Amino acid sequence: MAGNSTISIDGKDFPYPTLSGTTGPDVIDIRKFYGQTGLFTYDPGFTSTASCESGLTYIDGDAGVLLHRGYPIDQLAEKSSFMEVAYLLLNGELPVKDELDAFVTTITRHTMVHEQLATFYRGFRRDAHPMAILCGVVGALSAFYPDSTNVGDPQERTISMHRLIAKMPTIAAMAYKYSVGQPFVYPKNDLSYTANFLRMTFSVPAEEYEPDPIIVDAMDKIFILHADHEQNASTSTVRLAGSSGANPFACVAAGIATLWGPAHGGANEAALNMLREIGTPDRIPEYIARAKNKDDPFRLMGFGHRVYKNFDPRAKVLSKAASEVLDKLNISDPVLDTARELEQIALKDQYFVDRKLYPNVDFYSGVILSAIGFPTTMFTVLFALARTVGWVAQWNEMISDPEQKIGRPRQLYTGPTQRDYIPVETR
Ligand code: SDX
Repeated sequence: MAGNSTISIDGKDFPYPTLSGTTGPDVIDIRKFYGQTGLFTYDPGFTSTASCESGLTYIDGDAGVLLHRGYPIDQLAEKSSFMEVAYLLLNGELPVKDELDAFVTTITRHTMVHEQLATFYRGFRRDAHPMAILCGVVGALSAFYPDSTNVGDPQERTISMHRLIAKMPTIAAMAYKYSVGQPFVYPKNDLSYTANFLRMTFSVPAEEYEPDPIIVDAMDKIFILHADHEQNASTSTVRLAGSSGANPFACVAAGIATLWGPAHGGANEAALNMLREIGTPDRIPEYIARAKNKDDPFRLMGFGHRVYKNFDPRAKVLSKAASEVLDKLNISDPVLDTARELEQIALKDQYFVDRKLYPNVDFYSGVILSAIGFPTTMFTVLFALARTVGWVAQWNEMISDPEQKIGRPRQLYTGPTQRDYIPVETR
């Protein structure tokens, strides 16, 4: 408890507790504010609102710092694995070897999906956006696993979290296979989580497939960088859905729908499409001008962030990884040159400097994903695959919080005041 704050309204003082976390801004606990003052606070987009208490992920937007359970994202990206980061987010500590092995074995044993789930795909057109398929199929999972939908049972919560983490790669790979008209590929449990996903995505029955260690490493690093990110829009959606007692499969489906938006996870697909549309560096000034034009809805996709007012540390890691992966794969992609040139020009432009707009996680990820062989329509699916770890960890933390209650914001009402019905004959 850091102390007290006082809000004065019409000369009357209302004291409220000021709470401190382990780091980051203190909060003013205004839970009693409406009851005591008859007023609501107003914060569209929640720019100044802490919706919950959490110990999972800490972001210092001014310093460009991202910690998962205290560990800096650049260290995790460099030294850890996605499965180990998943264990860390779910359990709070880095696992010893036996714990990690047991966790990986548990996840591996849940990678298959119910055979009837495959029929869901056949209801979609082949050109359906894979995110539309992901929303539908993940939402349907609760119909196949009713034995893990009792959110009040910690055991059932754990099984459903493991099922979601384990099955997302299989479901995502099936969405890709369906879009290209190739047969679904079953998981192979002697492969690592990420190698298994790449094999389900890119192998065909007609020939042997050996996952390239360079690509496995790059993909695993991308999953680590997308695992969790505090109370972003999709995580807040999962928490809000979960606060009603909805089952975890439905909550994650809601998170997938939110992530799809181009202002959020859909930006990775939009950023690469934008870089390809720009094409060559000489066209960059035209797009910078459009991004600054208030009458033009165009924004530089992959730039800006609600929290980071300095470099997104994930973008720094991805920027370096983009060059490394393309070099190792002996691929030269002019889009990467355009991205670097665009970054340099934007970071010197007063409009971007004044608004503290820097590249975010979505600016460089697409270059790597494209080099690995994914179509842009799969980019947000990959983001959702990785973020499932954060969504279920945040959901479980919320359900376990004794102070949690159903989320129910209020509003500033600006509609008509009460009036009497007028029969249609006299209108
Ligand atoms: C993700 O929250 C998270 O943590 C999300 C995420 C995660 O891991 O979960 O980090 C993942 O969603 C990253 C963000 C991906 N989105 C994009 O790259 C889309 C492009 N960026 C934006 O639309 C925007 O920057 C947001 C949505 C990311 C943040 O928007 P905010 O915080 O609401 O900021 P804003 O819209 O109020 O912008 C402030 C100013 C405005 O100009 P003014 O009205 O002050 O003159 O900056 C401008 C905006 O017009 N601006 C941009 C811009 N982003 C903001 N101008 C041009 N290009 C941009 N990209």
